[in-house]
Amino acid sequence: MSYHAVVLTVHVLTAVVTIGLFVTRFYWLCRHSPALQQRWVRVVPHINDTLLLASGIALIVINRFYPFLCKKAG
Ligand code: HEM
Repeated sequence: MSYHAVVLTVHVLTAVVTIGLFVTRFYWLCRHSPALQQRWVRVVPHINDTLLLASGIALIVINRFYPFLCKKAG
């Protein structure tokens, strides 16, 4: 498995987890559920979102895709 494939897999997995956690937390919020106050519910989304952002930036670097540069990066 190439480096790109590994980082892309991490990126897509963390993307799925972030959406899943977001929907779950919104459901708990609407239900006024005490589950929302659990420690892991406040910690894990930050760790996951950091991994999502880091893998996204890594993919940009690996692909040499810089959207805000006019000149193509060598
Ligand atoms: C909730 C936020 C995000 C979701 C749901 C998400 C989802 C995805 C998915 C599903 C892909 C795979 C697309 C494909 O292979 O056809 C992808 C690719 C990619 N994402 Fe994200 N992403 C998110 C945030 C980010 C962020 C913050 C960055 C950059 C900082 C980023 C950069 C990229 C790049 C560069 C690719 C292309 C990878 C490639 O084709 O080699 N993403 N994203």
